[in-house]
Amino acid sequence: MARILITSAIPYINGIKHLGNLVGSQLPADLTARYLRARGHEVMFICATDEHGTPAELAAAKAGKPVEAYCAEMHEVQKALGAGFRLSFDHFGRSSSARNRALTQYFARTLGEQGLIAEVAEQQVFSIDDNRFLPDRYIEGTCPNCGYDKARGDQCENCTKQLDPTDLINPRSAVSGSTRLEVRETKHLYLRQKSLREDLRAWITSKSDWPVLTTSIALKWLDDGEGLQDRGITRDLYWGVPAQFEGAPWQGMDGKVFYVWFDAPIEYIAATAEWADAQGLGDEAWQRWWRTDKGAEDVRYIEFMGKDNVPFHTLSFPATIIGANRAGGAQWKLVDYIKSFNYLNYDGGQFSTSQGRGVFMDQALSILPADYWRWWLLSHAPESSDSEFTWENFQASVNKDLADVLGNFVSRITKFCRSKFGEVVPEGGATGPREEILIGELTARIRAYEGLMEAMEVRKAAAELRAIWVAGNEYLQSAAPWTVVKTDAAAAAAQVRLSLNLTRLYAVLSAPFIPDAAAAMMAAMGCEDWSWPGDIAAALEVLPAGHAFTVPDVLFRKITDEERADWQTRFAGVRT
Ligand code: MF3
Ligand code: ZN
Repeated sequence: MARILITSAIPYINGIKHLGNLVGSQLPADLTARYLRARGHEVMFICATDEHGTPAELAAAKAGKPVEAYCAEMHEVQKALGAGFRLSFDHFGRSSSARNRALTQYFARTLGEQGLIAEVAEQQVFSIDDNRFLPDRYIEGTCPNCGYDKARGDQCENCTKQLDPTDLINPRSAVSGSTRLEVRETKHLYLRQKSLREDLRAWITSKSDWPVLTTSIALKWLDDGEGLQDRGITRDLYWGVPAQFEGAPWQGMDGKVFYVWFDAPIEYIAATAEWADAQGLGDEAWQRWWRTDKGAEDVRYIEFMGKDNVPFHTLSFPATIIGANRAGGAQWKLVDYIKSFNYLNYDGGQFSTSQGRGVFMDQALSILPADYWRWWLLSHAPESSDSEFTWENFQASVNKDLADVLGNFVSRITKFCRSKFGEVVPEGGATGPREEILIGELTARIRAYEGLMEAMEVRKAAAELRAIWVAGNEYLQSAAPWTVVKTDAAAAAAQVRLSLNLTRLYAVLSAPFIPDAAAAMMAAMGCEDWSWPGDIAAALEVLPAGHAFTVPDVLFRKITDEERADWQTRFAGVRT
């Protein structure tokens, strides 16, 4: 038994996530957490909402709410949706928590004490009427490239050109609309990442088991052009972790907060502390996951994220950790393995949060249960390349894999048994060569499935699981107990007994992918034995003759052509 720490990239607070976001981190992280728990490992599975920064402030302003209230509300919404998708977080925290404030300030202070923070004077736009410095995004004006009159200081939404605030024609404050702007000098904190470059390189190149994609992204950022740059870790914003605090090794940072990308990954640690607090446990309880001086040496730490997040997790966050660890004493855990994903596209284009294009988590659950989505998303996870959601593919996959293969197997065997032997596992008879062949195939496939789950090969694991379901179906089809029973009731009884046991085994094996259906199957088998199968023949004898079961409700219904067409039009347009 091992101890495994799993984190999923923490979703931004502003707005409900779409299925592309879900499959890029939280869902595969949940799959892995569920699998590893089922194998008896001690798992800590952490996620949170990423609450600070300009996007949150802007979204709150748009909703006409104070940013604290907006974040509190959206956190509950995202938490409920996560629960709806059966994401089995040990804790779903908030980057605006007191724990994260304290830890972020602790890391900043420690980095400062190590000489790794520089104070840098910068020229920045100041709004006289708002009496504040404006971050780039808070400045609007006309795009010099396309003439769009609501271009932002960092980028034009219309033509996507990257901009500097000073490029804008007729610039104005997005806060008040005021045009009384001027450039003033201000001071910011910079993390001196350049001086951590060789430490980072040594660490990255020591990770021989990382996918080439991950390592190459990291090394590219380390060496490209001028290479890793020192980066500003403070911003002139209200909403964030205050950069001026008691014991800070600098002065004059009043009114500034840490950059959201500085405090967000620290929330992985903070959320584990929030978990301990919620459980009424002391600091040791969370520190044993994160601090090598408290036992985290034995922890294997796996991070899940979309590919756009890789630079932050291979360079920026490790720079924070490595830099802080230079202080000696408490050594903080660095990630052991990064599982990153490509993008999921939607029906010939991209999912788009700003345009409301695609299916969002709340909408998905309003039309079908979580398992349908979990199965499609995981079996089509964008691992080696981008993948695409189409309604045709979704319908086909649900109707075939879930309804025709798994659902049909369970329904057929339970109904047949009820009609011929009653709702108990039948006794008598013995298994023969056909069953031996099945057990041989199942054994090979289950061992392969374990290997793929261990390696976090999500699509391949799904394909193997599907093959395991197919093997049962084919067995039932060829054994045909409904024919055998006419001449040899005992032989049919043995086939049925094995198939009912196989239903329980399917529940165990399938639970990481489709937890609700797995629970329904297990409940129908009147059993609570979720133990992972070692010897497959033995696992197919867990339910003894005479054991009572029930016929479950339809596990998976089929998606009709009308529904598919209806959903296709409903989700093509703009979300309101
Ligand atoms: N909110 C970011 C995103 O959605 C991810 C933050 S991950 C963390 O892309 F490392 F910062 F926590
Ligand atoms: Zn433009």
